[in-house]
Amino acid sequence: MTAPLRHDGALSGSTDAELAARERELERRYRVACGSNLDLDLTRGKPSADQLALSDALDGILDGDYTASDGTDTRNYGGLRGIPEARALGAEIMGLRPDQVIAAGNSSLTLMYLTVDTALRHGLNGAAWDDGPPVRALCPVPGYDRHFTLTEALGIRMTPIGMTGDGPDMDRVEALVESDPSVKCLWCVPKYSNPTGCIYSPDTVRRVARLPQRASEGFLVLWDNAYAVHDFDFPPPPLENVLECAAEAGTEDGVVLFGSTSKISFAGAGVGFVGGSPNTLDRLEARMSVMTVGHDKVNQLRHARFLGGRVREQMRAHGARVRPKFEAIERILSESLGGLDVAAWTRPRGGYFVTVNTLPHLASEVVSLAGAAGVTLTPAGATHPGGHDPEDHIIRLAPTFAADDEVEAATEILALCIELASVRKLLATSRAK
Ligand SMILES: Cc1ncc(COP(=O)(O)O)c(C=O)c1O
Repeated sequence: MTAPLRHDGALSGSTDAELAARERELERRYRVACGSNLDLDLTRGKPSADQLALSDALDGILDGDYTASDGTDTRNYGGLRGIPEARALGAEIMGLRPDQVIAAGNSSLTLMYLTVDTALRHGLNGAAWDDGPPVRALCPVPGYDRHFTLTEALGIRMTPIGMTGDGPDMDRVEALVESDPSVKCLWCVPKYSNPTGCIYSPDTVRRVARLPQRASEGFLVLWDNAYAVHDFDFPPPPLENVLECAAEAGTEDGVVLFGSTSKISFAGAGVGFVGGSPNTLDRLEARMSVMTVGHDKVNQLRHARFLGGRVREQMRAHGARVRPKFEAIERILSESLGGLDVAAWTRPRGGYFVTVNTLPHLASEVVSLAGAAGVTLTPAGATHPGGHDPEDHIIRLAPTFAADDEVEAATEILALCIELASVRKLLATSRAK
């Protein structure tokens, strides 16, 4: 790839002639990129093969010993809450006590569905939501598209809430929760939020924990801590313990926590966890018993033996593989776009995603330019309910799965496309005056 085009200061300070010359050079570079037969992909928020290989020792670790610490034969039916050592593993990951955790099957997303469905049709923290008028979920944006899909699939309407560097815009959340009784839940990804990478501030966590006090009956905080231990720096930055804050506020029944080993061990064969108050766990266990006689305890035992007490060591190894990809994105975007004032991007210290903000109404254009040059990006808008970002300015990058050199090449094309789309827009705006 050629060196970045040098430019001092914001592009908006350029004359039309300077912009036009720059557009010609960027177009020339773009044509070269389009002719290079690239096939790159920054959409896949999943571990790379060498990350998965960090857990290959799971295979065979039991070596014929299927007995859990409490004497359970894990090969047999039963044990809906999970074996003790798997619950302890979930507690280690989620910062809870083992008695506050159910260790279940492979996916935490299934547990989120179960929780929302239970609240809707049977009642979790009070009466069933369905007993009253249609309900609404508060969805921080940009956010995790599968939260939106799940919510929509259950017929729940969604209200987008802006994200700040400290978490969701809590003034707005509190105002809505207090004024609108149809608001029944808030989605949260509190650490290395998908996709902005922010960590909720202690004040935000405390305010979130108090929400069920201020909300209508049955309100739930859905605390999806999918990236609880997915740090790049050690010792890792802290996250306030939401369940302890809820216990202080007397709102424990209104906070449900989720986590999994999906991005610690095998994304397709991990262990999912749900945490909460005794009431929450009792009610969820009762619903689980309708669906299954027990989760995969053999897998739970494998995970406990492999990861128990050494989660941080495992995450250091993940971090060593993942961090260089994030650093490459930061370096290339800074070198190519720094100071031009046409984009902003996050610099997460963990998790799986980088968020890039383009100038307003340019994200789709950038995604489409990149696609034509052989770089697949997540569709603009995917980070918003209904796939619609009203400002069309957010692009989510997921660099973990691609090889290091692919991440670099894809980011260089992305930067080129952002600058090209921005120069064209600035020129068009200037000429329309
Ligand atoms: C915020 C968030 N929650 C949950 C999941 C999926 O979790 P699981 O594999 O445990 O179902 C993901 C996966 O990308 C995620 O980003």
